[in-house]
Amino acid sequence: MANTQFTRAIFPGTFDPITNGHLDLIERGARIFDELVVAVLRNPDKNPLFSLKERLEMLREVTAQHPNVSVEAFDGLLVDFAKQTGSTAILRGIRAISDYEYEMQMAMMNRRLAPDVETVFLLPALNYTFVSSRLLKEIYLLGGKIEDLVPAAVFDRLQAKVPVP
Ligand code: PNS
Repeated sequence: MANTQFTRAIFPGTFDPITNGHLDLIERGARIFDELVVAVLRNPDKNPLFSLKERLEMLREVTAQHPNVSVEAFDGLLVDFAKQTGSTAILRGIRAISDYEYEMQMAMMNRRLAPDVETVFLLPALNYTFVSSRLLKEIYLLGGKIEDLVPAAVFDRLQAKVPVP
């Protein structure tokens, strides 16, 4: 019997900034779910390089070609925002086994808080398994090459914000 249930999923993160690894997961998620809400945590704890407004703008720009993807900001508990948006799934990526422990803890906590919201893990393309926003910023600020690991719009913003020789 065909499953006709509509599924909206939420893809949360700090996205400071969005990388090609995030984008790869967004594209995979957009193929699996009817709608995908990219949920950007304000996250002052991480002292982001890009403001919330900038992160939202970059995400909206690079996901504009996907009609079933939207981008929203959130504060507070992820499961509360998932419910607010009518999402029944949380999408997260696992790059390597080292991600697993933290992701499992979060998934189990979120399940405890909201048993009806399911966490779904996807693997990014192999060539993005070592990409993280934190490392990319560090490499960029030290003059290393990262152009092929972030969307062009993000690289332009990085250059505008912190020009490096
Ligand atoms: O990109 P990140 O920083 O790995 O994303 C972490 C995120 C945003 C998924 C996580 O910090 C989160 O969900 N924060 C919202 C607060 C919350 O619900 N905390 C309890 C998680 S079990």
